[in-house]
Amino acid sequence: MSKVPTKILLEDAMKRDYAIGAFAISNMEQIESIVEAAIRCRSPLIIMISKKSLKYSKYLAYLIDAAIKENSEIPIAMHLDHSQNFDQCREAIDFGFSSVMIDGTFDEEGKPSSFDYNLKLTKKVVDYAHKFGASVEGEVGFIGGKEDDMEIDGQRFTDPQKVEEFVEYTGVDALAVSIGNSHGLNKFVGEQQLRFDILAEINERIPKTPLVLHGASSLPEKYIQKIKEYGGSLHQVKGVPIEQIKKSIKLGIKKVNIYTDITLCMIAELREFLLKRPEVIDPREYLGTCRDEIVKLVSNKMTEFGSVDKL
Ligand code: 13P
Ligand code: ZN
Repeated sequence: MSKVPTKILLEDAMKRDYAIGAFAISNMEQIESIVEAAIRCRSPLIIMISKKSLKYSKYLAYLIDAAIKENSEIPIAMHLDHSQNFDQCREAIDFGFSSVMIDGTFDEEGKPSSFDYNLKLTKKVVDYAHKFGASVEGEVGFIGGKEDDMEIDGQRFTDPQKVEEFVEYTGVDALAVSIGNSHGLNKFVGEQQLRFDILAEINERIPKTPLVLHGASSLPEKYIQKIKEYGGSLHQVKGVPIEQIKKSIKLGIKKVNIYTDITLCMIAELREFLLKRPEVIDPREYLGTCRDEIVKLVSNKMTEFGSVDKL
C-alpha cells in the first residue's frame, strides 16, 4: 500500500465515519514516532510538512519518503501543508508528495485575497495535481493564529453559501474550514468554542466532500504543567477540547491537523530530561527521550479520531 493520495484515505474515513490524523513534522524523531504510532494502532496516516520546515531542512522530505517506503503495510499520505502558490505545489508534486494544500485565502504578499483569486489558483493546482494522481486540499474563509511565519490576527469564518461553487469549480478533494479554529497556543477567548452551526451547514451543502479541521491541538494540561514545572514559560494557553473534535468528526470533519501538541510534548519531555540528567551530552539520548511520549500522544489521537484498526 505504502504512499497514497489523501483522497483514498479520506474516502474510507467518509464511508466508515472516522477521521484521519494529519500530523505536521519538523524533525526526524517526530517522523519516526508518528509512524510508529500508526503501526501500533494499525491506522492510516497523513504526514504533513510546512514550507517553514522544508526551509529548515529540505532533507526532511526525503526522510518522510523513506519512512513511507520502509513501512509499506501502512497507507500513508505525504502532504504539503499551507502552500501559497502554484510553484510550491508543483515542486512538491514533482518531488513525490501525494497531496498538497493550496491556501488561496491570502495572496502572495500575505493579504486576504478575493474569492475569485482563491477559485482560480486552487483550480490551477487541482488540474496539475490530478494529472499525477495527487490530491488537493483547498480553503474557504481563513484560519487565525500563528502558522509558519504568518501571524494572522482574527479570522474569517467560512461562508457556507460559497462552498458548493468552490468545490464544483475547483474539483478539490478536501476542504479546510474556518469555524472558530486557529493555529498555535491560544485558540479561544473565554467560553468561545467551534461554530458547529456553520460546520453543519457546510456539511449539508457539500456532504460528499471531506472537511478538514486545522488548529486541532488540544494542548494537554499535563504538558503545560510539566513545561512550567521545569522552567518554561507559557501564557494564555487554550486548546480545542477533545469532545469538540469528536463532535466535528460527526459533522463531516475527516482530516484533523495537529502540530502544536507534538511541540508541547517534546519540549515538556526535553526540559524534564535536561534538568534531571545534566551530565548527558549525546543528542541521541536527549532527543530520543521524546519518542515514547510522542508515540503515546499520537496513538491517543488515533484512538480518539476512530482511525485505529482501519487497515
Ligand atoms: P495546531 O497549531 O492546533 O497544532 O494546528 C496545526 C495545523 O493546523 C497545521 O496545519
Ligand atoms: Zn493549518
